Amino acid sequence: MRDLWMLAVGPAHHLQRTLCHAHAPGSCRTTRAAAFWFTMPAMAQAKRKILVTSALPYANGPIHLGHLVEYIQTDIWVRFQKMCGHDCYYVCADDAHGTPIMLRAQQEGIEPGALIARMGQDHLRDFTDFGIGFDNYGSTDSAENRELVTQIYRTLKAGGHISTRTIKQAYDPVKNMFLPDRFIRGTCPRCGAPDQYGDSCEVCGATYLPTELKNPVSAISGATPVQKESEHYFFRLGDFEDTLRTWLFPDITQPRHVQAEVANKLDEWFSAGLQDWDISRDTPYFGFEIPDAPGKYFYVWLDAPVGYMASFRQLCERAAIGFDEYWAADAKPELYHFIGKDILYFHALFWPAMLEGAGFRKPTAIFAHGFLTVNGKKMSKSRGTFINARTYLDHLSPEYLRYYFANKLGAHVEDIDLNLDDFIARVNSDLVGKYVNIASRAAGLLHRHFSGEIAARSSGTGNTRDPAATPSDDIIESALQAAARIGDSYEERRFGSVVRETMNLADAFNQWWDRHRPWELSKQFEHPARPQDNEALHAICSTALEGFRILTLFLKPVLPELARNAERFLNLAPQTWKDLAVPLATGHRINPYQHLATRVDPKQVQAMLDNSRENLTMTTQTTATEPAAGAAAAEPIKPEIAIDDFAKIDLRVARIVKAGYVEGADKLLQLTVDIGEGRTRNIFAGIRSAYAPGDLEGRLTVVVANLAPRKMKFGVSEGMVLAAGPGGKDLWVLSPDTGAQPGMRIK
Ligand code: 2FM
Ligand code: ZN
Repeated sequence: MRDLWMLAVGPAHHLQRTLCHAHAPGSCRTTRAAAFWFTMPAMAQAKRKILVTSALPYANGPIHLGHLVEYIQTDIWVRFQKMCGHDCYYVCADDAHGTPIMLRAQQEGIEPGALIARMGQDHLRDFTDFGIGFDNYGSTDSAENRELVTQIYRTLKAGGHISTRTIKQAYDPVKNMFLPDRFIRGTCPRCGAPDQYGDSCEVCGATYLPTELKNPVSAISGATPVQKESEHYFFRLGDFEDTLRTWLFPDITQPRHVQAEVANKLDEWFSAGLQDWDISRDTPYFGFEIPDAPGKYFYVWLDAPVGYMASFRQLCERAAIGFDEYWAADAKPELYHFIGKDILYFHALFWPAMLEGAGFRKPTAIFAHGFLTVNGKKMSKSRGTFINARTYLDHLSPEYLRYYFANKLGAHVEDIDLNLDDFIARVNSDLVGKYVNIASRAAGLLHRHFSGEIAARSSGTGNTRDPAATPSDDIIESALQAAARIGDSYEERRFGSVVRETMNLADAFNQWWDRHRPWELSKQFEHPARPQDNEALHAICSTALEGFRILTLFLKPVLPELARNAERFLNLAPQTWKDLAVPLATGHRINPYQHLATRVDPKQVQAMLDNSRENLTMTTQTTATEPAAGAAAAEPIKPEIAIDDFAKIDLRVARIVKAGYVEGADKLLQLTVDIGEGRTRNIFAGIRSAYAPGDLEGRLTVVVANLAPRKMKFGVSEGMVLAAGPGGKDLWVLSPDTGAQPGMRIK
């Protein structure tokens, strides 16, 4: 019987054969390899054209782990499609418009353009470092987007789908601007909780109109809002009710465009009636002005999804791709939007209606996912579980988070939990302990005894002392047979199944290795009891490495960097899904093993949490979507402490000798302070939003002098400067009264 190993390295037509005339049905490994080939769904299909998007992150805050669920999910799916040889493009952009961005720029004393340019760069750097492989990353504040938004609006207007009417809204008489609901704070009309948002209460969960809020104040100026009239532009969503119904609830013979549970939710919205959508905002606003409507701007959510098209247009121009082929009303390529469940209304109702009304195609499908919890709870700044992408990257490998999220991701809208103990366990025991372990074990022996060269195997391990031994090609074949299932799981976004199935195979390979006890053969290598034992050892190592190659391919969309390193170690060109059927060739020389992944030390995770918590205390910076609550937001007093506890804190008067900006840290200032020790100290303080370096040099303040030094990305911080206030511009550094001297203890 010819061996799969030997045959599969032969010409490709071997693999295309479905019938083997030389062997009885089912007994020929060539035929079985061919069967595996043809059942791989991704490979069985003609080349597909696919355009994929993830939701556009707002340009007013950093990327955090909650965002990354979606980008990692999308990236894995896209990488799988690309590995299968399809033309799959993945585009995204910063969502750059709107009031919060305008206000944040004001707070920082810069132009919105400068803010969004900086944010865009930071976002893209974070994404790139997490291995998110966009084909284009744009901004909604682009020329392409302006042009497309204008075109869409004009077509909708010409089609009679835009109307205007005058509405009353809360207006800040000090800032002279209309206030989005989120920028009005007051007492909840239902439960009386103070300092709640204008549209909902975080304490009792009530939703209400801003006019119902008691004692409302503008979160921007603190002034009491007044009601003011203004003309607004509306998109008549109801005009598209029939189109949307047919699209969202197709008959059983037609493909679905949203997940089943999403369709149920949408059904509720239809029952509530489709309201006109207010698409205009009055000046001052950062966005695109509406044509022929001076002082009126497109609401950020109108131009945001158009940003998908605009980003793709940039790619088309760069890569000579036909934009219309993808977006014309009768376009054949597939279009998928990956989004969070909170923005379904925009994507499943407004967006397809806009596209329909403007003469473009509608999405093939919208894939919604749930939110991220950390250790079973909502991400929390005070628990340190509100983790920014950069903070994570400062401590841990991005591949580990990709692996963990993949493990948790399915095709449904459920929330996913990042349990940090489980994260450590899975990375250490599965990824390092099972998968990487196969390579490190086998490569060592292959190099020691066989110069790293892959064996020309005969059937079986040759280890006849173990009659129960599984022939080596059987274990390879069972791994290959998983390819079709794993391919289906990728296609259907059941990444948890991919990881589970692959790890089961890794278990099987490790057990198989242990059963054959190659270390014993290795010990008597110079003087083998029987010469064929050396052959058996060679076959075992080669089989294990072939197994590792297959598992690497299975995991490659999830772990692109690890796979790249594994390919380098195996001395192979970048592998595609098709290469599953091309085993390591006889005599192929692999490189010496180098660490592919190291275990996570729980201390790294703890340091990440400490850092996240510290970012909060150091910056107390509220993003503009969470407006500063003002003095009303009294924080509850912490539990009582004894005088001895207080005495442990060594507070000293300090003179700020020097202050400067920190490159790459938009929240920090670097302070050189003198606390009378005969030397100066270096302190990083998160007060840049409120102070320029020149405001601080020479003045006295208060410093925690015995805080453990903290190593930060920019250097060591040797203490903490005390400041009060909710954040942003509202941050005040403490000062002692005149007469106090640097170094004096505060008691
Ligand atoms: O919810 C958000 O974060 C939005 N910035 C998403 C926009 S997605 C698309 F429509 F642009
Ligand atoms: Zn309430």
